Amino acid sequence: MAAERLFKDKSVVVGVTGGISAYKTVTLCSRLVKAGATVDVILTDAAEEFVRPLTFQALTHRPVITEMFSLLQETEIGHVSLGKKADLMIIAPATANSLAKLTHGLADNMLLTTALACRSPILVAPAMETGMWENSATCANMKTLEERGVNVVGPADGHLASGASGAGRMSEPDEIFNAARKILSRREPLNGFRIVVSAGGTREVIDPVRFIGNRSSGKMGYALAQAASDRGADVVLIHGPTALQNPYGVRDVGVESAEQMRSAVLKAVESADALIMTAAVADYRPVTAAKQKIKKRESGLSLDLVRTTDILAEVAENRTENIRLKAVFGFAAETESLLAHAREKLTRKQLDFIVANDVSASDSGFSVDTNRVTLIDSAGEANELPLMQKQEIAEIIIDRLAGFIKPQ
Ligand code: PMT
Repeated sequence: MAAERLFKDKSVVVGVTGGISAYKTVTLCSRLVKAGATVDVILTDAAEEFVRPLTFQALTHRPVITEMFSLLQETEIGHVSLGKKADLMIIAPATANSLAKLTHGLADNMLLTTALACRSPILVAPAMETGMWENSATCANMKTLEERGVNVVGPADGHLASGASGAGRMSEPDEIFNAARKILSRREPLNGFRIVVSAGGTREVIDPVRFIGNRSSGKMGYALAQAASDRGADVVLIHGPTALQNPYGVRDVGVESAEQMRSAVLKAVESADALIMTAAVADYRPVTAAKQKIKKRESGLSLDLVRTTDILAEVAENRTENIRLKAVFGFAAETESLLAHAREKLTRKQLDFIVANDVSASDSGFSVDTNRVTLIDSAGEANELPLMQKQEIAEIIIDRLAGFIKPQ
């Protein structure tokens, strides 16, 4: 899993303050540990009222810190050592009281002391009643914290502990985890680069209820977008209709037709370092879309189709006008003569790299989680990969892309 690459051997300090949503932080810690992070938990006195230290200790396999002075018996002074070694500190839930203290540099418990000594990025997940969240004192504190570079996730709108509904609900563990993932990715090699990824299939309208489409689920393109984002890139994901969840921190642009995808891609590449076209773009569209539903008749039905524009070829052809664009990668979905057809597309479309995708087997290509591809560079050098998870293939492709756009 890509998240493991980012979290493995990282030290994450999780501070828990006193709020009912502290129980969700248990799930967050479990996710961090599963992703390979070393997690040190610090509880405030109030947090201990909600979740016992033993729960966190059992999950993290590490002692949980609850008292300021017990650590002074250790050879290293706890607040200094934890703050120094941490790659990231997360405070979840962060109550209005703790956020106010953090703003003013108070250090009257172990959590705040560690936060004050912390050299790593800090991520806070506020949780409180709507009135407290909207109070001008809290608003001013949050503004100050953000100006100082503290990262904030949430709060969400929803059901609150009081039974009321409104802003102030702590973000779900998944969202906090993904926000942490995005923060860690900032130290990765593609930070500062913009990559455009297209994904999914397009739909060409026949009439108000019918379209010409294909079986692309978007999985391969979404995996590439996630892998590029995990390496720190600013990713624009242009996709046809899919059932997938947008990767956190990735800008997504939803389109339907090949022409809409063309406009979105041409605009996005103007300020991009690389384009990866994974989308299954329709090669033909109906000459006209019927305004009303076409009625059934006894005889057959013929549709007049015209070619759509080849987006990839158009981008590659005009690349001299765009000095920022350093890499144009394409895919070739083939059911026969895989390498010959892929090589022909690589040359004809003037690409830097093509991923020859064998879509003839049921465990490879459209819709499934696995794929079978051969990577071909512009010199024609081919590297055949075995059947792999799409996420794993995405990691390899993004590593190859990094070689193109990042001078060694
Ligand atoms: O979405 P999934 O279910 O995960 O499936 C993934 C996939 C099989 C769709 C993907 O891995 C893949 O192979 N994508 C390429 C699909 C395709 O349209 O291939 P092609 O050989 O027809 O096109 C060659 C290249 O030209 C592709 O990069 C395509 O995006 C691009 N193209 C095609 C037509 C067009 N009008 N404009 C284009 O830019």
